[in-house]
Amino acid sequence: MAFLNDVSIQSGKWDSESHELLVLGVFEDKKLTDFQTSVDESSGGVIARALDSDDFDGKSNNTLALYSEGPSRRILLTGLGKRKEFSLDKLRQAGGTASSSAAGMKAKIFSAEVPGREDLDVSGPAASGAFVEGLILGSYKFLDYKSDREDETVVEKVTLVNGAVRSGVEKGQSIAEAVCLSRDLAAHPSNVATPTRLAKEAQKIADEFGMKCTVWGRSEFTKMGMGAFASVAKGTDEPPKFILLEYNGGPKNQRPVAFVGKGITFDTGGISIKPSKSMDEMKFDMCGAAAVLGVMRAIGKLDLKKNVVMAIAATENMPGGHATKPGDIVKAYNGKTIEILNTDAEGRLVLADALAYVSETYNPRYMVNFATLTGAVVVALGHNASGIMGNNERLISRLKEAGEATGERVWEFPLWDVYCEDVKSKIADVKNIGAPMQSGSIAGGAFLKEFVGDTPWAHVDIAGTAWWDKTRPYIPGGPSGVGVRLSLELLNLMR
Ligand code: BES
Ligand code: MN
Ligand code: ZN
Repeated sequence: MAFLNDVSIQSGKWDSESHELLVLGVFEDKKLTDFQTSVDESSGGVIARALDSDDFDGKSNNTLALYSEGPSRRILLTGLGKRKEFSLDKLRQAGGTASSSAAGMKAKIFSAEVPGREDLDVSGPAASGAFVEGLILGSYKFLDYKSDREDETVVEKVTLVNGAVRSGVEKGQSIAEAVCLSRDLAAHPSNVATPTRLAKEAQKIADEFGMKCTVWGRSEFTKMGMGAFASVAKGTDEPPKFILLEYNGGPKNQRPVAFVGKGITFDTGGISIKPSKSMDEMKFDMCGAAAVLGVMRAIGKLDLKKNVVMAIAATENMPGGHATKPGDIVKAYNGKTIEILNTDAEGRLVLADALAYVSETYNPRYMVNFATLTGAVVVALGHNASGIMGNNERLISRLKEAGEATGERVWEFPLWDVYCEDVKSKIADVKNIGAPMQSGSIAGGAFLKEFVGDTPWAHVDIAGTAWWDKTRPYIPGGPSGVGVRLSLELLNLMR
């Protein structure tokens, strides 16, 4: 969870109170803001002396701690990088560095100035929002299963002493909380974050924000014709769930936007079983579902004036006496027959029914799905960008813009006809794998495309970005909560 839950804006002069730790962002040019100059004056010139030395270079996320007898006992300088390269994401990183450094300095409470650069539009509510997102996301730790937390310092409260805009701060808080919900759901192991638990989380969001939640169990979605989803769920005794959330914040007759998530709460591969090495990581195979739940939570909290629906197909993918076998043929919700040549390509099967159901039932303005779909996307892009593809240029280009704005970068793969040929089956309409050892991520997208009808649609393959062990300024190692901020920015851009 995010431990930083108390973000306040100091109303009086900053030095009317004493501060345990004050965080100040400084560019590589080492020019101080007026506020920083006044802090320096009341702190015996420690900042100016530090900047005169070579101990601090202002490079992004470099820090230097100073000790003073002024109103703040400790001052932490954090580097903002080159002034002309400053951006909302650099600001978010500065926030993350501030709170993780504060925790490292055992400060539960700290203060900070909101950095900014007006000529680059890194100012006002947007800047406050990005900084607060960084602060909260950087305070995230997953300690739910630790009995002894004595050695863990967590930051709990921050006071913004200069540059904060309240509307931006509140928005940043709402968004960061939703990202942390998504991280938490991902971090819980598969014996806790079951399909039943995901359904409960959806119901909780519905209750809190007046949405409509519908949950179907195995017999219901099987009867409805979701043969692809049902075929994946056949091997498990853990009850699978089809989860829908409907939010009506917009005009009554306006078509909704749709978000769809892959909710495989554990992926063994099924009968096409995976090797045991790192198989534990397959508890993260529900990160698409976690992302879209986070999106809905944020939408509710922000009281967005749009209609939005969310669908999740949630199940374990297990081998067993009832499990689907390679070669089996099933029928999806849209009537297409699928030859299942590899039971480990299960994500596209559960999404096939979810996408077909949503596009037919809601006729969405546009539809975006999030899925940890292919190992191949990690080969192509590593952990620094999600793979995207789709059938609508405008949607794809807005997604790219949203990726730049949020730091949740995306990279497009082509869905040309020649690739779509690869998922045609000899004896059924389609097969669930493409050409061997070729363009594996595109094959996933090409398969999904068969189930979206005419709906403008994009597929975001987050297999590389949903979790990583590397610690980054506002993403500690582990699940990232990717997709939440990207989707919110997309909603903002797709007017
Ligand atoms: N959940 C996996 C994809 C995955 C693998 C995500 C590694 C993150 C890390 C997915 O269900 C899967 O197993 N995909 C197969 C598809 C193949 C059988 C066509 C893959 O990528 O190997
Ligand atoms: Mn799989
Ligand atoms: Zn999977």
